[in-house]
Amino acid sequence: MSYQNKKIAEVADALRHRFETLENKSDILKANELRALYAEISSLPDEERAGFGQEINTLKQELEGLVASNQQENEIIEAIDVTAPFDVNVAPDKRPKLIPTQYGGKHPLMVELDEILDIFYRMGFEAIESRQIDNEYYMFDSLNFPKDHPARDDYDTFMTEEGLIAPAHTSVMQNRVLKEHKDSLEQGKPIAVVVPGRVFRNEDLDARHEHTFYQLEGIYVGKGVNVGHLMATLKEFMKAYYKRDVEIKTQPFYFPFTEPSFEFAISCPFCDKKGCHVCGEGWIELLGCGMIHPNVLKEAGIDPEVYTGFAWGVGFMRMAMIKYNIDDIRHFESAKLEFLRQFK
Ligand code: DAH
Repeated sequence: MSYQNKKIAEVADALRHRFETLENKSDILKANELRALYAEISSLPDEERAGFGQEINTLKQELEGLVASNQQENEIIEAIDVTAPFDVNVAPDKRPKLIPTQYGGKHPLMVELDEILDIFYRMGFEAIESRQIDNEYYMFDSLNFPKDHPARDDYDTFMTEEGLIAPAHTSVMQNRVLKEHKDSLEQGKPIAVVVPGRVFRNEDLDARHEHTFYQLEGIYVGKGVNVGHLMATLKEFMKAYYKRDVEIKTQPFYFPFTEPSFEFAISCPFCDKKGCHVCGEGWIELLGCGMIHPNVLKEAGIDPEVYTGFAWGVGFMRMAMIKYNIDDIRHFESAKLEFLRQFK
């Protein structure tokens, strides 16, 4: 920047140099020389006043520009620790009071899930976690839901404005699991996978319904797999989980992704079918299952003429509620310590 007026040009030079040495850069705007120049305006002849005044304003803007760009360079933005359960920039005495770790414990659902997975590991299944955001292909298309079919309405999903879906069931993982294991299947190793996950539905909430809950999907595919294998696997699982022998009962049902499809019930592990406050009439309906539909296998590139398989989906919150006689599903996510501490 150059200035016509010699005096202003000299002050400008001097202030630029001083700016470099100043610790508090904005002090340059309070420089005496600048003030003196402004004071001089009134003593100038009329014809010089406007031009002189304009040049001082230009000089002031130049200095303000220097101060502003220096601030941007040096401004320290404090990092936020996104893993912290509170804003780390908040003063220590304003932070939420956390429970000391020695009083903490695993959430009851995770304790149950560990036990459930353990049972399936022993049966030779591996576990893959489901996901919390998905799309129409995995939620419906890959699972043999015809476009615009009313069966889609059975799953009252949450959808983002971009068209992504909060999964309403862990079956969203079927196509992925099948595709991923297709090669090892063809090398002779059956697919045996369980998929725990969080699922979401637009539900009216009550003691048995939550908008957010947990399911465990099971997928087994090999050569010569039939309904008998499905029933035996689920029965063994129920016996191991409830630590009691149970009878099983099925009735036909409809899911687009299985054929045939079943509703699966066990005899009440507490009253031996006599009827009690847990089961009502002796039987407890627990899950949906069936033989994987040939179209679902085909969609994943698996030949349904060669391979068959079964699948199921179970809400394991409900399984735990039955096991511990929990009367309200909402306790699980209530964060009530009276509830949580009972599971330690
Ligand atoms: N996805 C079903 C539901 O949430 C449950 C289910 C039924 C899963 C049958 C399966 C199955 O894999 O074969 O209502």
